[in-house]
Amino acid sequence: MLAIGHRGACGYQPENTLASFRHAAKLGCPWIELDVYFVQGRLIVIHDDDLTRTTNGTGLVMDSSFDYLRSLDAGHGEQIPTLQEVLDVVDTCMNINVELKGPGTAEPVSELLTTVCQHNWHSDQFLISSFKHDELARADSAFRRGALFGRPSDDMIMRSKQLGAYSLNISLRLVDPDLINLAHQAGLQIYVYTVNEPQDIEQLRSWGVDGVFSDFPDRVMDNQKK
Ligand code: G3P
Ligand code: MG
Repeated sequence: MLAIGHRGACGYQPENTLASFRHAAKLGCPWIELDVYFVQGRLIVIHDDDLTRTTNGTGLVMDSSFDYLRSLDAGHGEQIPTLQEVLDVVDTCMNINVELKGPGTAEPVSELLTTVCQHNWHSDQFLISSFKHDELARADSAFRRGALFGRPSDDMIMRSKQLGAYSLNISLRLVDPDLINLAHQAGLQIYVYTVNEPQDIEQLRSWGVDGVFSDFPDRVMDNQKK
């Protein structure tokens, strides 16, 4: 079962910052997840569409200038990073799940990842995911896709297959053994978010889940050692 550091290792460092990604690397985490928006031609890494919760700024990400976003404190004096900066810091030591949060992110993410794959990265080191399936469908099919689901629905497997997804990425609230079996029969990996309690991690492992997103990815790695 893969340990996927949620927004880096955001139980320990401010989410979606270079400090959080560095901490995940220090923990030995094999995968990290991050969220992206495309602002004034630059891909930036932040979760909310509003700046208030995670920065000292105000207003909407998509209404802000890139310079304003970069002037903000995203926690512990960290800047909101660009995706390019994260790629540089990670330097192929961890695999990356890029979650498309903002509009118009599929094409620039695909272009950037294609470029880095012509150098030191390999396409298998990335997973592109989104709750916005129209956006996800525009991601370059050279990269694995993760179809994200946060609400109950009867057609999750069918929609994942239609998207050409590699994985079905689902909320902890919605997962059960039947769905896991059906996903596996359909040739899909199943990744579950956001799983922080050791007993939940253990249960998902016993059910045969393929990966879990955790704010404390070391807890997932500790579970594997048992
Ligand atoms: O990709 C897993 C998880 O990050 C999805 O939810 O809201 O944390 O981006 P959210
Ligand atoms: Mg996310």
